[in-house]
Amino acid sequence: MSAVDPVKLMKQQVGKAAADRVQSGSIVGLGTGSTTAFAIQFLGDRIKSGALTDIKGIPTSFQASVLAKQYGIPLTTLDEVDRIHIGIDGADEVDPQKNLIKGGGAAHTREKVVDSLAEQFIVVVDQSKIVDKLGSTFPVPVEVLPMAIAPVVKALEKLGGKPELRMGIKKDGPVITDQGNMVLDVTFSDIPNPPELEKTINNIPGVLENGIFVGMTDIVLIGEIKDGNPTV
Ligand code: 5RP
Repeated sequence: MSAVDPVKLMKQQVGKAAADRVQSGSIVGLGTGSTTAFAIQFLGDRIKSGALTDIKGIPTSFQASVLAKQYGIPLTTLDEVDRIHIGIDGADEVDPQKNLIKGGGAAHTREKVVDSLAEQFIVVVDQSKIVDKLGSTFPVPVEVLPMAIAPVVKALEKLGGKPELRMGIKKDGPVITDQGNMVLDVTFSDIPNPPELEKTINNIPGVLENGIFVGMTDIVLIGEIKDGNPTV
């Protein structure tokens, strides 16, 4: 028998806990990543069982829209609704102020649009994502127009960052975002002021959006293993 992956169990638990908070009649922001994928799956289960009705999802990526369709969640767009009641999304890092680094799935540009509009934004993570300071375990993803990669690299280096072009799994080409752009993963030895760095990076011409999310998170649900059991 194969051993159960504890990280997967934590992601599953926390995804379910977030899906359980969604009420009938809600417009729901659907995040991207393996943890949110469980939330989408559990939302679908609740819809199928009849426990949840009149739900519409706003996906933050092509991946999220594919999953939503697979699990029977009707979708809508920001052109059609004027509010998002609740947003559920993962993160790569969460600091004590609930600021985030996101973009491990190269979806942070659309995620920031949708997550920022959610009246209640819930972040779902396993315990490995909790850090004292942003940037300590994960670089800052920056989505960049392909024709501007060279000057943006130079500008990020001037800010003290070490940018690396994100390559696909087979390393035979760069990762291309849903918007047709590329991603630089930028390592900073220290991020003393996340709100300032977020703004400074976004001011570089050619940058679409970076993965620092400041002051947006309402609730962080953390999956943990306690006494050998996954818990939230
Ligand atoms: C995608 C993201 C994801 O939410 C983040 O990378 C966390 O993913 P996972 O739940 O798979 O660990 O920001 O752009």
